Amino acid sequence: MTKPKVLVIGSMNMDLVTQTNKVPKVGDTVLGTSFFTIPGGKGANQAVAASKLGANVTMLGCVGDDAFGQELKQNLSDQGVTIDYIKTIPNTSSGIASITLSQGDNSIIVVPGANQELTPDMVRENEKIIADSDIILLQLEIPLESVKTSMELAIKHNVPVVLNPAPIQSLPKDLLLQATYITPNEHEQKTLILNDELTSEEKELIKQKCIVTQGSQGVLLYQNTEELIPGYKVKAVDSTGAGDTFNGALAVSLSKGIALKEACQFANAAAALSVTKLGAQSGMPSLEEVEKFMAQV
Ligand code: RIB
Repeated sequence: MTKPKVLVIGSMNMDLVTQTNKVPKVGDTVLGTSFFTIPGGKGANQAVAASKLGANVTMLGCVGDDAFGQELKQNLSDQGVTIDYIKTIPNTSSGIASITLSQGDNSIIVVPGANQELTPDMVRENEKIIADSDIILLQLEIPLESVKTSMELAIKHNVPVVLNPAPIQSLPKDLLLQATYITPNEHEQKTLILNDELTSEEKELIKQKCIVTQGSQGVLLYQNTEELIPGYKVKAVDSTGAGDTFNGALAVSLSKGIALKEACQFANAAAALSVTKLGAQSGMPSLEEVEKFMAQV
């Protein structure tokens, strides 16, 4: 079977992760327990997840001309992702995410850096790879105008799009109506629907495209009726990148023609396995690991 072609148009960040038993309040200083740097970024994480699950993945995005940029590209290449369409932007820092990790949960500040240089023009220059993809993954760590251009070109070439609306911001209704699937968490979904521009019919249409992630509970679908596709309970070490693993796995399954419910079950299993190790990408499972896990539980 030929591998599905997944295109990720999005961000690459170096994650600067601090582990602590106590999260400081404003004005506090606390002692942390460890610190590490590790490749991340919602775009790159989704690309790695899809690649580990057997897809042929291409990344379109930008890094800075610093040491982080080189490391981010090398890491993607090592994970089997095509990096020919990643631009290195001169005199610019790569994106970073400052992550505080405490008791398996995280809070994150992203400084986009070079990710901001992924312009609509750069997207247009790469129309050919958009047209040549089986599915496209989009998130919101690059300029919104570039997300809109990517969506328009995907529609033009009949390529389905999974829009992961994170980090959440208010989005134009056309973007929401054009997406094939939208993968918010509960809080993000509320923000999407609270858009005054939307008629109640449009809200309903958007709701039906939504796959609402609920952590270990699973995901909610609103196809005909509301349905929970249950998740898997595991011992969480680091939830960073669980949503990205879900999105990458979902895209791989859907592009193989697997039905939505089964695709969500598979993506739930991949996401559960991903939280059992430290770092956004380190715990992302291979196809064999997900299949074995699903057969066991
Ligand atoms: O979704 C997790 C990711 O969000 C992290 O890897 C970090 O880079 C931020 O973009």
